Amino acid sequence: MSIKIHDAADVAAMRTACRLASEVLDYLTPFMKPGVTTGEIDRLSAKYMEKQGTRSATIGYQLPGYPPYPGYLCTSVNHVVCHGIPSNDKVMKKGDIVNVDVTVITKEGWHGDTSRMFEIGPCSTAAKRLCALTYDAMWLGIDQVKPGAHLGDIGHAIQTYAEGHGLSVVREFCGHGVGKVFHDEPQVLHYGKPGTGVELKTGMIFTIEPMLNAGRREVSELPDGWTIVTKDHSLSAQWEHSLVVTETGYEVLTLSAGSPATPDFVRGVKKSEAATQSA
Ligand code: MF3
Ligand code: CO
Ligand code: CO
Repeated sequence: MSIKIHDAADVAAMRTACRLASEVLDYLTPFMKPGVTTGEIDRLSAKYMEKQGTRSATIGYQLPGYPPYPGYLCTSVNHVVCHGIPSNDKVMKKGDIVNVDVTVITKEGWHGDTSRMFEIGPCSTAAKRLCALTYDAMWLGIDQVKPGAHLGDIGHAIQTYAEGHGLSVVREFCGHGVGKVFHDEPQVLHYGKPGTGVELKTGMIFTIEPMLNAGRREVSELPDGWTIVTKDHSLSAQWEHSLVVTETGYEVLTLSAGSPATPDFVRGVKKSEAATQSA
């Protein structure tokens, strides 16, 4: 039971795997629109992974006592928290918010794991706010990462921000170590207390993937054995990056040309400067 420390060659291989995962999301982006089914998104991703020379880590993925997961990726719509199964019967419609979660495996066996939210057509202010706040919460968590920091610092940053904005943090699912193993140690909780938990060391690679609900935090599992929904049917959002702890902080690995901009607070841009920059 120990957390892997990756060397420079491992990190280089993970950079590739993670960029490729992010490029699957880039490729899918123009198809995330009203009238398209999540089944079609699944098929498109399968073809694109084949073209990349990667394969899906999720198809056939199995936990003890559960059926094998049937999708090349996960598509979680509105009150679906995570692990939504793509379906030809699920047509995306105006106003939906959809998480697409992609994990690819390279020929060399490295996993890249990342997810984004997509707003289908014009969405309600509440839905847009949830997606935006969840994105910032993920980045606030990421921005805690440096050697000597603790996993609890990440969870605390996310939880404080989420709850401060009236959102709740799902407890049943967490970030995870990732590399040659899909779901490795450590567990990266999205709630917690500063200075607690595992101390971060250069070369650790893990995901941060908060699931935030507009309503209560409780979730239930559907009879398909995979789909997780909010118990109160409130909207849920999630974003995910894979990253490595570096000597000076972190490097986010799941970035590509189509990644949404890194928030100004991470780039150290002050509000006044941000206003000038975007003008
Ligand atoms: N990609 C998800 C994660 O972030 C896991 C999906 S497992 C599946 O860890 F089987 F549901 F696809
Ligand atoms: Co993950
Ligand atoms: Co994922």
